[in-house]
Amino acid sequence: MLKERVCLAPVNFKNLYFLQNITRSVVYGFKVPKNEAEKVRKKLVKSGLLDDEWYIEARDDYIIFPLKKKIDGAEEFDLKPRTKKISPYRKVIRMVGKDLASFVPKKWEKIGDVILLPNFNSPNDEKIAEAFAKVLKAKTVVRYKGVQGEFRTPIIEVLYGNDTETVHIENGIKYMLDVSKLMFSSGNIDERIRMGTIDMKNETVVDMFAGIGYFSLPIAIYAGAKKVYACEKNPVAFYYLLKNISLNRVKNIIPLFGDNRKTVPLGVADRVVLGYIDTHPFLELGFKVLKPQGGWLHYHDTFTTEEIRNNAPSSIVKECAFKLGFLVEDISTRIIKSYAPHIWHAVVDVKVIRKSSQKIK
Ligand SMILES: C[S@@+](CC[C@H](N)C(=O)[O-])C[C@H]1O[C@@H](n2cnc3c(N)ncnc32)[C@H](O)[C@@H]1O
Repeated sequence: MLKERVCLAPVNFKNLYFLQNITRSVVYGFKVPKNEAEKVRKKLVKSGLLDDEWYIEARDDYIIFPLKKKIDGAEEFDLKPRTKKISPYRKVIRMVGKDLASFVPKKWEKIGDVILLPNFNSPNDEKIAEAFAKVLKAKTVVRYKGVQGEFRTPIIEVLYGNDTETVHIENGIKYMLDVSKLMFSSGNIDERIRMGTIDMKNETVVDMFAGIGYFSLPIAIYAGAKKVYACEKNPVAFYYLLKNISLNRVKNIIPLFGDNRKTVPLGVADRVVLGYIDTHPFLELGFKVLKPQGGWLHYHDTFTTEEIRNNAPSSIVKECAFKLGFLVEDISTRIIKSYAPHIWHAVVDVKVIRKSSQKIK
């Protein structure tokens, strides 16, 4: 019986906060005699000036109220934070000062020791970048404007530092790359991890869009695959794929350089990964890479909200499988991430078997 599921929970990408234990810090405070404290406290709360990130402290016959900003009569005091966790965002804000505070990006990505900031504009972008480098202990900070072209090449501008080559460690795997030349999608983290958790014992797997080894590495290292053919067309990505194979001491990846339409071995795979966007033109080829009796295929692409609602991803895959003489035994669609407004990056996992009467085309 055909199993069909749709998982609509998108992955929530959260910045990794590098938290630091801070005991005390110098902040602006207002010192008032104890007998006036309650009246002043009420006024400060009402005016939104009381900073609840810090403890109110009693010293001798006085009470010190922490303030969000300097006001007349305020002094600097060494106060204790309420929480030991101060987000890097707050630290950057404190470092750049109030004139730049409102321009500080609230989101960023850290790939190895390089920070990617979104496309922001401020009177002093370099100063903000430098503060991020210091707070997050990064060697380089870049402005990230998106990806372009067949190779999904990033469009970036270096704001601080100069070296954009780094080693990013995720799930115990080392990914070396140059962030100015290659993408590393943080939003795909769950999918990269998931690929390593599927039981692929003794399987031959073909990763048709290997990049630097995003999926090939977890599959080869954790999933138990016997062999992973990793196809990659971009010479820069291929260079780092080779680097990453040796960096992780992996023996079961066979890298194949060139366009997968020319390099991919046909009829060999128990499982095929089509980890790309605009992948539809490659779907038929993906099925032909499977062993004649069938196997698993992981088909990635982008879909509109409407298409997801109508189960279009699954229909597209089923149609192609039937055309090539396969029966669909199991099929499910998972949302990986939001790609653009109303556009989703999703993956269809499908298991197919050859129709018994069907000749292989
Ligand atoms: C960038 S990766 C996709 C992202 C990845 N799945 C992740 O987790 O971040 C896709 C790769 O496919 C490669 N590629 C595109 N078309 C190809 C083709 N026809 N043959 C081989 N590789 C191709 C690109 O050069 C790119 O490195």
